[in-house]
Amino acid sequence: MGLNTRIEAAIAKAVAVGQGRGSTPPKLASALHYATAPGGARIRPTILMSVAMACGDDRPAISDAAASALELIHCASLVHDDLPCFDDADVRRGKPSVHKAYSEPLAVLAGDSLIVLAFEILARQSGQSPERVAQLIMTLAQRTGMPGGICAGQGWESESEIDLSAYHQAKTGALFIAATQMGAVAAGQEAEPWFELGARIGEAFQVADDLRDALYDAETLGKPAGQDDLHGRPNAVTLLGVNGAISRLKDILGGAIASIPACPGEAQLAEMVRMYAERLTPVVTPTHVPGE
Ligand code: IPE
Ligand code: MG
Ligand code: MG
Repeated sequence: MGLNTRIEAAIAKAVAVGQGRGSTPPKLASALHYATAPGGARIRPTILMSVAMACGDDRPAISDAAASALELIHCASLVHDDLPCFDDADVRRGKPSVHKAYSEPLAVLAGDSLIVLAFEILARQSGQSPERVAQLIMTLAQRTGMPGGICAGQGWESESEIDLSAYHQAKTGALFIAATQMGAVAAGQEAEPWFELGARIGEAFQVADDLRDALYDAETLGKPAGQDDLHGRPNAVTLLGVNGAISRLKDILGGAIASIPACPGEAQLAEMVRMYAERLTPVVTPTHVPGE
């Protein structure tokens, strides 16, 4: 089975658990599916699985649970992020955002349900390897809530003074750190050596996201463009210019590859980061760089 197929199957199985079989509110059950499929790039579970495989992937059911739990948290964060009280975005992944397709109450509840479901999916594996599962739950919780997870990241947007690096680390970096660390833990390895790889990929992703937000149109992105400018958010493009941001992106990814801990699949993992780097770097044509 290819990696993408494996990830999609794990996510579909997890969502089916959340939808249940008995009498459940049909619209909310349907919103859980809508919020998670078809997905976006699935970059976080792909990184998680790649690290688990590089470390031997000796308990595939735990890697599957970890990858799907992480993507459920990510999808939930997008559902809540698009709500009128946050970014008020009508489109996500090329289709109406959940509150537009369903309603605001159902979007709040779908996000809540997906967050809780993520932890249930992990807990269901505790018979197999209780220690690994406990650590996976801990890592995912720390990267989701306060003080250093997505909640903290989104919370910075309600402050008048933003600590930019804490904001980016919590909003975007956290789930990439979760991805590399959970991949290692799922395969029975220590989490700590994998922090730096996750942090660097997260940093690169943020710069790439800033570039895409500035350079691409809404149709290409599948979500509103020019949001950083619109909300006056500090970002890599205003700070460094387009070309400066691209060279920063390359530097960070070079550092990411250098930070990969010794493991059986080290070479394949480095290759995966290289391919990811190519995908992340926007193709810039002269018409894309007004003001440079
Ligand atoms: C978007 O993440 C949200 C950010 C943290 C900037 P992705 O670009 O990974 O979104 P999908 O999952 O591919 O739609
Ligand atoms: Mg936002
Ligand atoms: Mg947003």
